[in-house]
Amino acid sequence: MKFFIDTANLAQIKEANDLGILDGVTTNPSLMAKEGVKGDAAVLNHYKTICELVEGDISAEVVSTDYEGIIAEGKILAAIAPNIVVKIPMIKDGIKALKYFSDQGIKTNCTLVFSAGQAILAAKAGATYVSPFIGRIDDSSWDGVQLIEQISHIYTLQGFGTEILAASIRNSLHIVRCAEAGADVCTCPLESILGLLKHPLTDIGLAKFLADAKAFQ
Ligand code: G3P
Repeated sequence: MKFFIDTANLAQIKEANDLGILDGVTTNPSLMAKEGVKGDAAVLNHYKTICELVEGDISAEVVSTDYEGIIAEGKILAAIAPNIVVKIPMIKDGIKALKYFSDQGIKTNCTLVFSAGQAILAAKAGATYVSPFIGRIDDSSWDGVQLIEQISHIYTLQGFGTEILAASIRNSLHIVRCAEAGADVCTCPLESILGLLKHPLTDIGLAKFLADAKAFQ
């Protein structure tokens, strides 16, 4: 399973990249706004900086909702760097745009996916990635990880090549459960990635090893 970081915060992207386990970055307009990145030029420049920091796929989201607008915006985003993935919402014109970019050989990420039916449509349109929002499904008292399992089962059965990118990850257990459920990628906040490191027996064991090593020096 690939690890992406779900943020537009450059310091956090650098920290995750320095770990050596980062395969890409996902962003969205809310995450860009959180970093105070405002205006078209600033947004494009911010994506450029992220693309220079990380070698893997970088999802850049369109904000147009009509076919022509999505295509025009997606072309501008795709021209920033070869590792840009055009992130397109799960709407009717979005499906058409996914097909267009797929035919052009431009990578895409279909976002705001909350059902298996939507995931089938995204795959049919040739999306590179499909992004089911696990945490938001859990917030509505449904099981987000179950959706990952269902999509994984369908894609395997039907031979779809679209990669399942588990998004809206809220904690480290989500990452483990998505790995079990067959996600190809998990895009996570830095905190959830670092949470995977934690186990009290590791801390206790290391303290004992270091104490014993010191005692025999
Ligand atoms: O990648 C989508 C993700 O950023 C949404 O996360 O926490 O806003 O549901 P969240």
